[in-house]
Amino acid sequence: MANWNILGAGAIGHFFAEKLLKSGQHAAFVLRPESEPHIRSFNFENLAAENTSNTVMAQGKLTPKCDFLLVTLKAQDVLPALTLLQSQIDKHCCIVLLHNGMGTAEQTEKLFPRNAIMVGTTSNGVLKVSDDHIRHTGAGVTWLGPFNNQAKRYKDIATQLSALEELTWCDDIREKLWLKLVINCAINPLTAIHQCQNGELASSSLYPQVVKIVQELALVCEKARLPWPYAELQAQVDNVIARTAENFSSMHQDRLFNRQTEIDFITGYVLKVANAYSIPVPTNQALFEQIKQQETGLV
Ligand code: PAF
Repeated sequence: MANWNILGAGAIGHFFAEKLLKSGQHAAFVLRPESEPHIRSFNFENLAAENTSNTVMAQGKLTPKCDFLLVTLKAQDVLPALTLLQSQIDKHCCIVLLHNGMGTAEQTEKLFPRNAIMVGTTSNGVLKVSDDHIRHTGAGVTWLGPFNNQAKRYKDIATQLSALEELTWCDDIREKLWLKLVINCAINPLTAIHQCQNGELASSSLYPQVVKIVQELALVCEKARLPWPYAELQAQVDNVIARTAENFSSMHQDRLFNRQTEIDFITGYVLKVANAYSIPVPTNQALFEQIKQQETGLV
């Protein structure tokens, strides 16, 4: 039985807390430093609309002997939060990063050069209906894999977390993260700018933009030795648009509620890679700038 701490008490953090507890692991939430220790109770509603009640310890610091620190914060919050906790994170603690976008694992490795770092992605749909009610809204797959050599020893993680039936270890997790990155680049900025549901991207007015984004990303993927030709990337994007047609993307929600978005770690990450390969990506560049302008209140 391992000792897991979860940094990020949003929908995904609660989803994993429930799975960890169900798998017989110890789980605790790490909240803001000023938070007093308390027991957090929440209802978890599964896909069959059955409810279970769960209790988890929550406090402003890591619990002693934390084996795994699962970070489910938004990409832009990862480094500031880990920096605050730096003195509490022992070199034996494996840091597991799970969020949209890429680039935080490199930052984390600089801060914790001796720790194992795992990265992952999940396509499970989860909604925080209220502070104490979490609803699983869409079945999905969770992939975890090693970012550095130290993390390769956790290959058997899927057997430890038996309640996450769809959890798969992936030696080349970079491919899974890039695929998700392409999907996020195609869906998130456009739905945020046009304040629309994912499904509206299939409309004749917006779909040509989606195609341009994916065409540019296919050029970057090719240079980065990723295995998918344009047609495959487009098919993956089209599939997610159709499957999540009714959803509002996370970036749509961030803009709606005037929160900072993950743009630096989604389109921004692609721009850096494209720039390193000298590949022009004008459509992605323009979307990046539009979101940045909205964030700084210029439009
Ligand atoms: O960020 C999101 O909202 C999701 O990752 C996705 C897949 C775009 C669906 O809305």
